[in-house]
Amino acid sequence: MASSMLLFLLYSLILQSISVAAQTKSTIAIGDSHTAESNTSPWLLSPSGDFAFGFLPLNDTNLFLLSIWYAKISENTVVWYANGDSPAPKGSKVELNANDGLVLTSPNGVGLWNTTEVLNSGVSRGVFNDTGNFVLQDGNFNNIWETFKHPNDNLLPSQVIDKGGKLSSRLKESNFSKGRFELLLQDDGNLVMHSINLPSGYINKENYYESKTVGSDTSSAGTQLVFDRSGYLYVLGEENEKYNVSEQESGVSTIDFYLRATLNFDGTFTLFKHPKSSTESEGWTIVWTMPDNICTYNVELGSGVCGYNSFCKLGNDKRPTCQCPNRYLLVDPDDPFGSCKPDFIQGCAEDELSKNRNDLYVFDTLTQIDWPKADYVLQKPFTEEECKKSCMDDCFCSVAIFRLGDSCWKKKLPLSNGIYDAATLSDAKAFLKVRKDNTSYVFPPAPIIVNKTNNRGTLVLVVSVLFGSSAILNVVLSVAICVGTTIVFQYKKKLRRFSQSDTGVSTNLRCFTYEELEEATNGFDKELGRGAFGIVYEGVINNNTSSETRVAVKKLNSFLLDQAHKEFRNEVNVIGVTHHKNLVRLLGFCESGRERLLVYEYMSNGTLAHFLFNADDEKQKPSWKLRLEIAIGVARGLVYLHEECITRIIHCDIKPQNILLDDNFNARISDFGLAKLLNMNESKTNTGIRGTKGYVAVEWFKNMPITAMVDVYSYGVVLLEIISCRRCVQEMDQGEEEKAILTDWAYDCYRDGAVDALVEGDNEALDDKGKLEKLVMIAIWCVQEDPVLRPSMRNVIHMLEGTVEVQVPPYPSPVSIQYSLI
Ligand SMILES: *[C@@H]1O[C@H](CO)[C@@H](O)[C@H](O)[C@H]1NC(C)=O
Ligand SMILES: *[C@@H]1O[C@H](CO)[C@@H](O)[C@H](O)[C@H]1NC(C)=O
Ligand SMILES: *[C@@H]1O[C@H](CO)[C@@H](O)[C@H](O)[C@H]1NC(C)=O
Ligand SMILES: *[C@@H]1O[C@H](CO)[C@@H](O)[C@H](O)[C@H]1NC(C)=O
Ligand SMILES: *[C@@H]1O[C@H](CO)[C@@H](O)[C@H](O)[C@H]1NC(C)=O
Ligand SMILES: *[C@@H]1O[C@H](CO)[C@@H](O)[C@H](O)[C@H]1NC(C)=O
Ligand SMILES: *[C@@H]1O[C@H](CO)[C@@H](O)[C@H](O)[C@H]1NC(C)=O
Ligand SMILES: *[C@@H]1O[C@H](CO)[C@@H](O)[C@H](O)[C@H]1NC(C)=O
Ligand SMILES: *[C@@H]1O[C@H](CO)[C@@H](O)[C@H](O)[C@H]1NC(C)=O
Ligand SMILES: *[C@@H]1O[C@H](CO)[C@@H](O)[C@H](O)[C@H]1NC(C)=O
Ligand SMILES: *[C@@H]1O[C@H](CO)[C@@H](O)[C@H](O)[C@H]1NC(C)=O
Repeated sequence: MASSMLLFLLYSLILQSISVAAQTKSTIAIGDSHTAESNTSPWLLSPSGDFAFGFLPLNDTNLFLLSIWYAKISENTVVWYANGDSPAPKGSKVELNANDGLVLTSPNGVGLWNTTEVLNSGVSRGVFNDTGNFVLQDGNFNNIWETFKHPNDNLLPSQVIDKGGKLSSRLKESNFSKGRFELLLQDDGNLVMHSINLPSGYINKENYYESKTVGSDTSSAGTQLVFDRSGYLYVLGEENEKYNVSEQESGVSTIDFYLRATLNFDGTFTLFKHPKSSTESEGWTIVWTMPDNICTYNVELGSGVCGYNSFCKLGNDKRPTCQCPNRYLLVDPDDPFGSCKPDFIQGCAEDELSKNRNDLYVFDTLTQIDWPKADYVLQKPFTEEECKKSCMDDCFCSVAIFRLGDSCWKKKLPLSNGIYDAATLSDAKAFLKVRKDNTSYVFPPAPIIVNKTNNRGTLVLVVSVLFGSSAILNVVLSVAICVGTTIVFQYKKKLRRFSQSDTGVSTNLRCFTYEELEEATNGFDKELGRGAFGIVYEGVINNNTSSETRVAVKKLNSFLLDQAHKEFRNEVNVIGVTHHKNLVRLLGFCESGRERLLVYEYMSNGTLAHFLFNADDEKQKPSWKLRLEIAIGVARGLVYLHEECITRIIHCDIKPQNILLDDNFNARISDFGLAKLLNMNESKTNTGIRGTKGYVAVEWFKNMPITAMVDVYSYGVVLLEIISCRRCVQEMDQGEEEKAILTDWAYDCYRDGAVDALVEGDNEALDDKGKLEKLVMIAIWCVQEDPVLRPSMRNVIHMLEGTVEVQVPPYPSPVSIQYSLI
């Protein structure tokens, strides 16, 4: 600011000294040149001294504009400029030469601008006319090039524009680059004003001014736009009719006043006057401005008068100002006519679906404002309340306009053609959806820590570090993360798509309403359990035939669903077509707003975890035979998922909590397909911790492909738990640390020929020692850290059923694949 003031003062001083000196010439000859320096006088002055031609320094820069300005008034009012798009660095030189006319070159010789049009016309001099016109003439005093024929954003008295000629606004008051508005005398004689889209210059087809001088029965078409010597501006018809551009009387004397007609950077076209007499100091004042209200200008494919998300307000001088709504900020703080951006995040991708939108957003209400043409839907008839609610519940909606008493237009960003108009928009209310707090949108969201659902088996990290590498692995792996996209075999995708889309919904899944499930669960009253995916409630549904069915309703953690909305139905259908006696059946689902619920068969005998670990009597372990049946059941369920159903499914989270027991104590796997449904892929690695401590295979941790073998690993761990009725990771008393990690302990016992220790006090199992040892060997095969060594689930079944011999298993974490974990 200070420096620009200084420049300004400096410049006024220079001007004064010049006008006093008044020796500068008004004609140049071939070879004359002028250099851009901070303290040089103009190159030329018109004979009367009214106009100056030369380099004008641009504020705050070392750049100069080759231009014409009023020499006798203090404001630097530029009426013509050569190099608005490429201002000249200090030291640049303009020279008149016979072949090319004026040539402007930078100090390092780069051509910045020239009068290309005169090429080889034999320029012999340049004459600066009192009208403010700089003319190149040939040897016969013919004008071969004039600044009046190459206007920028200004017309001076006696200047005309022919058909096809135009004015082009500058970008900002103080930036002379090509701006966003044009005034054009079309070939059909119509004088029009329109906006263009920078930088391509695409012309928006809508005009905000038209002289309509296109010729008719009673009048002829326009041929010229004339700013005559008396200061009248009109379109001259073919038969010399004068069609006034403005209906207002000008009546300004060109003797007493400087006049200029300027296409302002804001798009308005204004006739300005300035008293010539230096005693009057009122400066430039407006005689008239066209059009009457530029704020009403609407374009289909542009921002309108103001930038995007901004709105236009007309001043008393008919010139617009632009304003950002609350919580919107200028993209470029130095460009008040530019676009505004919200200082908060919104939109479907950003919405935190787990939260009620009313907790996140609030409406900022503006009146008498509209953004025409940003609508995507009209709701009518609608009340104001309905309008607001509809916008709040709609992640596309950024603004709702309520007008006409019953009409609700919903709009999305960016908003365009914004207008404030007290007269025509007196009934309009704009509800801008803004985020309540601007600190809460930390993205990506904080990680979800999967809490253990019980408190008996607290993980003891310190203890386990004392153990061998596999122990470290087991524990460190507990932070493993599920990479969901690879979970379902990709090559089956097509098949699934086919079977789903082309044959219609091939499942009998029932689509519930949220209200139905709310009622069925008595308002989500009785919780059966909760896990990473959500909370499970008990419910009863009426199934037409007056029979009631008990169900388990899983309310998915909507936070996890975030990206999975589109896939929801597909994935639910995938789950829905799986039918196996060792899987929990999906009966239905519900998609309502942000909520996604799954309705499963009710399993009366709880989880395998409860069955194995929560026996009332510590000594009285569940029946060995039953446990064997369960182990085989789980294996069968997994074989089905891995190999037999239409879409192969990797479970990703096999653990006793996810294995349920039905009335007959059949093992039933639950939660299969959810890893895919919740679409946990790499982008989520920081947010969705999947897999459960102690059950996860090394692949999760290493950057290895996720295959069905991850379930085999988890199955091996579960098998050991079934054998021993012990958690895979368990806090142990002093002196028993070696038993804390079940997989390690089991291998140690097996190696030492002491598998009995695993089933201490379990006489049933001890009596079946052959089988016991075989199961331990199978489990050790399953928990091999090298996935290649693990058997497939089908092989596991064969081994369990005895149709395949069980070989001696290797040590699960051999040195060869002891990964450097830290
Ligand atoms: C004049 O400008 C044109 C294009 O802008 C360029 O091709 C030409 O070389 C220039 N002439 C001189 C003498 O700089
Ligand atoms: C200025 O130019 C106009 C048009 O070329 C011409 O008629 C007029 O005589 C010139 N005025 C002066 C003072 O040279
Ligand atoms: C230059 O300075 C004047 C006076 O301070 C100011 O009005 C004008 O907007 C400035 N222009 C630029 C290029 O910053
Ligand atoms: C004028 O604006 C353009 C586009 O924003 C920019 O590239 C250029 O540097 C500006 N010119 C000056 C002199 O500030
Ligand atoms: C056009 O303007 C001139 C000068 O102000 C005036 O005499 C004339 O009546 C106007 N014509 C029309 C049609 O308004
Ligand atoms: C949050 O909003 C307040 C008030 O609108 C504002 O002062 C503050 O700068 C904003 N903070 C951030 C991080 O945008
Ligand atoms: C985990 O447990 C802690 C302590 O019980 C609780 O504060 C926290 O909310 C739980 N987190 C989740 C995601 O359930
Ligand atoms: C409805 O009842 C029938 C017979 O009781 C049962 O087979 C079916 O699974 C039930 N459907 C649902 C959605 O509960
Ligand atoms: C109830 O039974 C009727 C008649 O059998 C049938 O049309 C309807 O689809 C059934 N509704 C449900 C929810 O099963
Ligand atoms: C298992 O379910 C059956 C049938 O609902 C029930 O009779 C039995 O008591 C349940 N057993 C346990 C241990 O909950
Ligand atoms: C996540 O999964 C989606 C859907 O499969 C996919 O479009 C996207 O590219 C994945 N993102 C990453 C980072 O892998």
